[in-house]
Parts: sequence; C-alpha cells; structure tokens
Amino acid sequence: MRNIYDCSLARTGTGTRKNYDSYIVVGGQWGDEGKGKVVDLLSEGAHLVVRFNGGPNAGHTVEFDGNKFILHAIPTGALRKGVKCALANGVVLDPLSFMKELEDLRKHGYEPDMTISPGAHVIMDYHKIMDGGKNSIGTTGRGIGPAYSDKASRYTAMRVGDFAEDGFPEKLMDILRLKEHELKRAGITKRHLFDLRRETLREYAKRLEEMYSPCREKIRELTGDVSGLTNEALDSGRRVIFEGAQGTLLDVDFGTYPFVTSSSTTAGGACTGAGVSPVKMNRVIMVVKAYTTRVGNGPLPTELKDETGERIRDVGGEFGATTGRPRRCGWFDGVVARYTAGINGPTSVALTKLDVLGGIYPLYICSKYRIDGKETDRFPGSVKDVERAEPVYDIEMRGWEPWDENQKGRILEGGFDALPDEAKRYVDRLTEFTGDVGLISIGPKRQETILI
Ligand code: IMP
Repeated sequence: MRNIYDCSLARTGTGTRKNYDSYIVVGGQWGDEGKGKVVDLLSEGAHLVVRFNGGPNAGHTVEFDGNKFILHAIPTGALRKGVKCALANGVVLDPLSFMKELEDLRKHGYEPDMTISPGAHVIMDYHKIMDGGKNSIGTTGRGIGPAYSDKASRYTAMRVGDFAEDGFPEKLMDILRLKEHELKRAGITKRHLFDLRRETLREYAKRLEEMYSPCREKIRELTGDVSGLTNEALDSGRRVIFEGAQGTLLDVDFGTYPFVTSSSTTAGGACTGAGVSPVKMNRVIMVVKAYTTRVGNGPLPTELKDETGERIRDVGGEFGATTGRPRRCGWFDGVVARYTAGINGPTSVALTKLDVLGGIYPLYICSKYRIDGKETDRFPGSVKDVERAEPVYDIEMRGWEPWDENQKGRILEGGFDALPDEAKRYVDRLTEFTGDVGLISIGPKRQETILI
C-alpha cells in the first residue's frame, strides 16, 4: 500500500492554490486594540470588508478629516466609497441599532453597499432585556449572550432569513411560546421594557411585529449569500478584509471564560463565521495595544490600580466606545501576547497607541506569571489560575518624552527610525512576544501611522 502522505490526497495544492488576497484582522488582547483604524487603512483598495463575529457590542473607531465615526454593527469598510460590506453568519444583528447606524452614516453622506447573510442571527428585543442589569460578566448589555444562546439552542433562534421572510409573525409567536417562562422571569422587575403581567404573549408579539416592521423591509433588501460572494471575490483575485470584533482573550473558547463574549474572536473564527476555507486565508494581522486594557469583569493580571493606570486611561482615552465605561489599564502582558499570537498565527502585528506611553518612566513588561510560587510563561487554561497569577516584571524599559504635534510630524515623516531610541527598544522587546510588527499607530487619525 502506498504511503498516504505520498499520494495525491496529501497534495499541497502547488500550482492550483492561488495567492488569495485575504486579510484577517483580530485583536490580540481583551478587545479595544484599535482594530477599526487598521481595518479602515486596509479598506482602501479592498473590494469587500466582512464582519464575521459579534454584534453591536463592538465599537470600531475611525478618525479622519476632522470626523470621528464609531461603528458598532456595520463593517469599517463602509467609510470607503466603492468598498462592499457584509455581515456574515457568525454575526448577531440588532435590527434597530443597525438601522440607526445606517441612518447616521447616511447623514454624513455614506451609503454602505451592504449584504447581510440570512444565516446571521437577530438580537431581538427580549435578548436585550435578558442581558440587562448587573451581571457578573459585566457585559455590554446589548443582548449578545442571549442571542447566541438561542442560536446554539436552535429551537428559539431567529435568523435574519426568518426575520425578513413573510412567515416572521408565526415564527415569532412560536419562539415566544417556547420562551414563555424565561420571558416571565425577565418581566418581573420594573426596569424592563415590557411586563408580561400587563401584556399577554400575543400582545407582546404584536408590539414586536409593529416595532420591527419598518426595518424588516430594508433588511430583506440587503439579504444575500455572504459566504458565496466572499468566496467569489477571493477566487477572482479581489481583496477581502475579515474584520474581527472583540479580542482573543474574549473568545468564547480561548478567552478567560466565563468572562468572555459569546462568539469566536480568533483568526479561526473568520473561517467559520464567514464560511471561507482556511486555505484561502493568507494573512492574519493581530492588533495589540502597547499596554493592556480590559472593560467588564474578569481577571487582568497586569492591571494598575494606581496613578499610572489612571494616567494611561486619561491620555489614552480609555473609555468604552460602546458603553462609555472606564477601561481597566495595565502594563503590556507578554504572557497574553505569546498565547494569542500562538492561537492566531499573525503574519504581521499592528501595534497601537505607542504615543500614550510617552512620559511614563520606567515602563514594565510582564514576561511570566507566578502562580502559587511557581513561574510560568504559559497563559493558564483555567480562569482561577489567571485570577491567582502574579505578573513577573523582569523587563524594565526607559520611557520617552511625550510627543507634541511637531515631534509626531517628524516621526511620521521619518518612520520607525525617527522614533526615540527608547521607543524603538520598547517595540523590539514587544516583538519577542508578538512576532514582527508591520504597523505602529501613534494617534487616532488615519495618517498617524508608521508603516514598517
Ligand atoms: P458581551 O459581549 O456584551 O456579552 O460582553 C462580554 C464581555 O466582553 C464583557 O466583559 C464586555 O465588556 C466585553 N466586550 C464585549 N465587546 C467588547 C468590545 O468590543 N471591546 C471590549 N470588550 C468587549
């Protein structure tokens, strides 16, 4: 018998495998790494930008020409004329906030060329009610967890296809009946939008039908085969950007579970979320901030609960783009970066917010954790161990002066070489954990970017 690895089954595809023009952009920390800016830069010259996970819990910020846009559900490519945008199966869509975002963009002269997959799931009114209140995860309260729970449970899920089709009222009533107990439980406190003690299930269903009626029409118009059009674009040599939301440490499988979001935030998530083969994914750009932040609850080993942490928050404007909550800030965590680089396999890293560290002396980088007296450079698999981990700061770096506009201008002109030596050394030390850096961001605006 022939060796299985010598036969045609094991062909690498040499000669047939195309050089697909694909870029996956993911976050290498706990979200808010600045993926929006990176996707916006990559969108210039792209054919299609596809969001493959999450929903309006994301807040992708882009600044140019004196305007600041925060996109929650719509792909960042919407800000580039002629670029197509898509929401793939892995996404959860809140029709109401989506329509509002579309309207806001229109007011600014943008009319996104959007396609929404019928296989994406809908965040319904009741999902938002169930996600409200003070929960231990500290979610964004946008209905993300409850919508993905229904997706996994299958019987109570509302896909975009169901939502847009004529059978919506019947589907809705079926779902509400199945969820009746859950809804009753959620309806017993005063702060909720509906109260089943006053409103029958049928009345509630009627109200939802009316509430969603204007957007169902629009969403029906936008529905299309996202996986198909993405694969066609790639097969015909067009450039496609896969825009990830949240960060690897918020991934439902590989993050600090249960303090995570409910979707797949990793490079692999782009394949399952968008319906594209891994063979067609050529480049992975992992975005990391020059320090660490986290919003919501859960462990953050390098958190600084002192004036350095406050300074980073103030200078870096570290407040949630979706909820406005202050972000927890800390030193760069090399254990995290090594772990997330392992999972995502970045072909290049985008390092953001380097400017924010100006004026902090010295700077520390965590290279290991100490857990129960034992040192490890591996990110623990159990959240309990992450909670107990003490960061080991055996890398101490000299800081650099904050940059004024003139100094920034000189750096942007001269590129990496024009950075102060201390900043260059800091970046070099980070690459030991992340891999090669191909872009450094030193401000929120498009042009405040160093390409290497
Ligand atoms: P959810 O995604 O709203 O269920 O929230 C789960 C956790 O993920 C909470 O800690 C949120 O603060 C966090 N989270 C969700 N989306 C983002 C994001 O875009 N950036 C940063 N944190 C996020």
